[in-house]
This record gives sequence, C-alpha cells and structure tokens, in this order.
Amino acid sequence: MAHQRTIVVTGSASGMGAATLKRLVANGDRVIGVDLHDADVVADLGTPEGRQSAVEAIQELSQGVLDGLVTFAGKGGLPNRAGSLLVAVNYFGTVKLLESLRPLLAKGTNSAAIAIASNSMTCQPGVPLDVVNLCLGDDEDGAHVAADTAGSIQTYPATKLAVTRWVRHHAPSPEWAGAGITLNVIAPGAVQTPLLKETQDDEILGPMLAAFPIPIGRNGTAEELAGVVAFLLGPDARFFCGSALIVDGGTEASLRADDLPSPMA
Ligand code: NAI
Repeated sequence: MAHQRTIVVTGSASGMGAATLKRLVANGDRVIGVDLHDADVVADLGTPEGRQSAVEAIQELSQGVLDGLVTFAGKGGLPNRAGSLLVAVNYFGTVKLLESLRPLLAKGTNSAAIAIASNSMTCQPGVPLDVVNLCLGDDEDGAHVAADTAGSIQTYPATKLAVTRWVRHHAPSPEWAGAGITLNVIAPGAVQTPLLKETQDDEILGPMLAAFPIPIGRNGTAEELAGVVAFLLGPDARFFCGSALIVDGGTEASLRADDLPSPMA
C-alpha cells in the first residue's frame, strides 16, 4: 500500500489554504489543518502561546512525523489594522512553525515545506527594511514597534520579504536540505479570496489594487495556487531548494522584467 502522507496546512479554513486542504485530501493525503476556527487545530499563530499550543497539538496528532507543511495563515494590510499584527502572524507565525516542526519533517518521507510570500515584496514600493531586518534578527518586540510605526499596508510586503529571505537562508542548510527536507516559497499575485476582497472593498486600497497590471487579464484562483503547492509537495519537485516561485499572472514580469534574474557582480 502507498504511504499516506501527513501534511500540515495553516490558514486552512479559508482561501488558498482551504483549497489546498481540499486538493490534498482528494489526493489521499491526511491533512492537519490549523486556523483560528474550523480546523483540526484551533490556535492563534499570532501569539507565542498559540504557536506553542499548535505545535503540541500537531506533535500529538502526527505522532511526531510529518511529510509536509504549508504556511498560508496570514493577514493583509488595511488602513485601520496595526502593522504588528502582520509581523506576528505573517512572519513569526510562519517561521516559528517552520522551526518547531522541522524535526517532525526530518522524520517524514520526501518531506517538503512551503512558505507563502506575495509579489508585493518586489512590486510594492517603500518596503520598510527595518521591519524586515528586525524580523530576521528574531526581535519580535522590536519588529512590532517598527511595524506599528510603518502601518500594516507598508508592513505587509516587509513580512513577505522577510519570510522569503528566511526561507532562502535556511533551505540550503544541513538542517533542511541536508536532512532531506525541501524548503521553498511561493509568492502569489492577486488571488480571489476573502483576504483580497477586504482590500478590494477598501475605498483607498481598492482603486489602487484595480490599477495594478495583471497581463493575463484576471486574478488567480485559490485552486490554481493549490495546484502549485501540490506540485511542490510532490515527487517531481525534489530538485527545488530555496526557490521563490512568483505566480502572479505576469505582474512582476511586466513591472520588473530586467531585475530578475540578477547577474552576480
Ligand atoms: P484568507 O483570508 O482567505 O485565508 C487566510 C486564513 O488564515 C484564514 O482562514 C484566517 O483565519 C487564517 N489566519 C489569520 N490569522 C491567523 C492566526 N493568527 N492564526 C491562525 N490562522 C490565522 O487569505 P488567502 O488570500 O487565502 O491568503 C493566504 C496567504 O496567501 C496569506 O499569507 C496571504 O498573505 C497570502 N497571499 C494572498 C494573496 C491574495 O491575493 N489573496 C496574494 C499574495 C499572498
């Protein structure tokens, strides 16, 4: 009998996380969903206690062995939302889970971890680099203060750039690549989910978002992104290590054609 994979999906109650859970379960995988509500593990990944309780519950449900982890849980930037919430959920809620669940992934079969960034990290001007550096320096309190100063709209791409850098720093290390765990990051563009709807409905951000070019002429669907995740979790993606996959209908290519790839000096 084929090995049944056990895969953790955070943010599993909505949007791309829910579409991914559905796709993996249909494929025969066992999925442990983590979210604030409607999940196998109900936990707030924005707090140290919530992250700890999530890790303990996952440890118990998986009996200490995982084959995959996908970290979708996240919040978007809005005019009246604190930047610190995004630092807490998007960055620390992601990397603390990656760190804590790495030993479980090391015991799995062809294990793969996938973090979720956003093309805003390279397509939205004015990213506050102090937030990025405080996150990567593991200074959560300092990052909260800097993010509240910057506001959540500017903090959003900072948390996603920090997650991407964390992934690219760690993926090639003995703890990840050396332990047989692939670690990569997907950076979606506009994908039609409740998170995007919040931005579309905002009277300031909505028109700005609508003005953003999407060369293929439409937003992405949660199911399309679930398909990319399924591929990265699968046997044909074992050569991916520390890759940042931009999946955005051409927005980044149309705005930054010559910036990537960037040749070595
Ligand atoms: P969504 O809002 O539909 O789903 C996000 C899920 O995360 C929700 O179920 C929510 O309850 C959960 N969540 C939020 N805070 C949490 C917390 N403190 N603890 C546990 N769970 C929490 O959003 P969507 O669009 O599916 O986004 C998924 C990820 O993709 C997010 O990280 C987002 O930043 C990212 N993304 C989304 C894009 C889009 O256009 N929709 C574009 C680029 C990136």
